[in-house]
Amino acid sequence: MKINKNHLNLVDSYLFSKIGKKVADFSKLHPDAKIIKLGIGDVTLPLCSEVIKSMQNAVLEMSKKETFKGYGPEHGYEFLRSAIKDYYLNKKVNLDLGEIFVNNGVKSDIANILGLFDKDNIVLIPDPVYPAYVDANVMGGRIIKYIDATEENKFLPLPDENVKADIIYICSPNNPTGAVYNHKQLKVWVDYAISNKAVILFDAAYEAFISDKSLPSSIFEIDGAKKCAIEFCSLSKTAGFTGTRCGYTVIPYELELEGCNLNKMWERCLAAKFNGVSYIVQKGAAAIFTDAGQNEVKDIINYYKENAKIIASALEEMNIFFTGGKNSPYIWLKCPGNMKSWDFFDYLLNDANVAGTPGSGFGKNGEGFFRLTAFGDRENTIEAVNRIKNLKF
Ligand code: MLT
Repeated sequence: MKINKNHLNLVDSYLFSKIGKKVADFSKLHPDAKIIKLGIGDVTLPLCSEVIKSMQNAVLEMSKKETFKGYGPEHGYEFLRSAIKDYYLNKKVNLDLGEIFVNNGVKSDIANILGLFDKDNIVLIPDPVYPAYVDANVMGGRIIKYIDATEENKFLPLPDENVKADIIYICSPNNPTGAVYNHKQLKVWVDYAISNKAVILFDAAYEAFISDKSLPSSIFEIDGAKKCAIEFCSLSKTAGFTGTRCGYTVIPYELELEGCNLNKMWERCLAAKFNGVSYIVQKGAAAIFTDAGQNEVKDIINYYKENAKIIASALEEMNIFFTGGKNSPYIWLKCPGNMKSWDFFDYLLNDANVAGTPGSGFGKNGEGFFRLTAFGDRENTIEAVNRIKNLKF
């Protein structure tokens, strides 16, 4: 028996677990402190009424013999995949139903997809980045190369032709910086991937936050992307599904590497390893894509965007450099007074009882930066901002 010792190479705790623990410890010591959590990007508004209605009907269906559902298709019910297909048609992306796989959120699929690739691949990950990408590859013992996302390149690094990569992670709108690639920049990535026979794992979890319609919200808006990319999307942030769990992975039929069809491989893999997302949840998810559902979800997103504006205008007032918040729910700010990320975290928690996310938790280039989320409720966001404005830097 041999343990996969790559697990020992993980940092001691996952970023958001560490923050959760620090906040819980602080609150034990200071039970009267009213802590405002703007750390993990967890939503605060409830599921919209169209989703609830649809889920309630699904519950009733489950109560009757004639409409009861047992195992569903591993890759998702057709009613949901059709709704997703239509959603993509609005972006002028034509998908076949068989290219859409319903998942239980981006996190598991973006890690499990690695099972399709040999261990001996070079993985290219931007720094700073959502820590789950790094952890999944560390556990798999893969070689990771980092590409710097900095103020100089506006947190949107482009490929270095001298660097060879096989698996490339791109998150746009970006977690944590909020930066969004335009068509031209994504085309550079697609061309690089095709010429290197590499695959792009494109995380589009925050696509619904793009207000600037000139920006791509799917990598498949880019010519050639179907030959080199897999897209992961989630309803967590779009429609408040962080606790309900549903999203989708798109693997185009055209994606062939080393003569292997990744769509077919993933379908086969899911049949062996996954029994699908529950019928009730998929019914709720499908309601998001109806006209009424889309209207409700837009209102929710606008609410969070207004929170982002409130945070952004306070930072402007305080002369603190930041990015994001416009096409993304995250505000990425430079810690005032040249503070280090974790020092700023402690200062904010102790002196303002506000919890955020230290930038260094997303990679070395995040040191000296800090992330605030716009997913709080309005009252708390305003209160947090007022408390921050009263601090001395
Ligand atoms: C975040 O705060 O970065 C996200 O909520 C994490 C996630 O989506 O798993």
